[in-house]
Amino acid sequence: MGEAQSIQWFPGHMTKTKRQIEKTLKLVDAVAEIVDARIPVSSRNPVIDKLIQQKPRLILLNKADMADPVQTKRWIAHYRAHGIPAMPVDCKSGKGLQNFIPLVKELLKERVASWEAKGMTGRTIRVMVVGVPNVGKSSLINRMCRQSKANVEDRPGVTRENRWFTIGKGFELLDTPGVLWPKFEDPQVGEHLAFTGAVKDDILDMEHLACRLIETLRVLYPTAVLQRYQLEEQDLAQLEPYEILEAIGKKRGMLVSGGAVNTERAAIALLDEFRGAKLGKITLEQVEEAV
Ligand code: G4P
Repeated sequence: MGEAQSIQWFPGHMTKTKRQIEKTLKLVDAVAEIVDARIPVSSRNPVIDKLIQQKPRLILLNKADMADPVQTKRWIAHYRAHGIPAMPVDCKSGKGLQNFIPLVKELLKERVASWEAKGMTGRTIRVMVVGVPNVGKSSLINRMCRQSKANVEDRPGVTRENRWFTIGKGFELLDTPGVLWPKFEDPQVGEHLAFTGAVKDDILDMEHLACRLIETLRVLYPTAVLQRYQLEEQDLAQLEPYEILEAIGKKRGMLVSGGAVNTERAAIALLDEFRGAKLGKITLEQVEEAV
């Protein structure tokens, strides 16, 4: 069994981001946290719960088009059981986004009623979008803006990292101020992010990564691998991951002169195809059963 490779990263300006988020929280009514539905644990910032504290929050399981729908449903039930409304979305196509504003309104129902009781009818609802890089924050904001033909607000005191987007009558979104990093120091987190393409490949050993992906997939989704690469069931179960990678390369005719398999090409093909959901809808971090 191989080891997860430790992925080097630079913490950047986490302290600055934390401060910016704390400051900005005072300006918003709710927080929409985006996670990658294929890796809902690894695609979160480890201190986000502490940062957000008591602010009403919802979770968007984005890239649901590439995740296992059974698992996505379980994750939603899991979050709901912890008092956090959650919904699946596909910010690339826009699927599911029609439910976003209604869910925020439902979340803030009592707050809106109390504003109205105080005569503040039609008060704008402001939501901060948070998420680690590559989960789809820009895609969400772009989609929502396109739907409402909105543009960026130009207000005094609004900096470039602190932009408000009007996405409907009385509804505004704010992008994460600064960069919220995931928990890269945990090797499994780094690896799952690398599988999904959230880490630059040029710092990764692609063959090692592909072997680790094979180890993961043969446990969670063996049929997907068998079907895609036409492997024998016994081989997938018993061969070393590197031998499976060789078998995949061989099937694809990825040979170098002398007849050996070009395992680097096979690794890149496997990772590309996994990231492009060619192996099917896959969730790597799973909830055992419905809550
Ligand atoms: P970020 O702001 O949080 O960093 O993420 P961003 O929106 O830039 O999205 C990162 C990548 O994920 C983009 O792909 C984007 O198209 C893709 N993406 C976002 N949401 C979804 C989704 O729901 N489903 C799928 N399948 N993909 C999604 P990219 O390769 O970086 O760019 P491009 O392919 O859009 O050119």
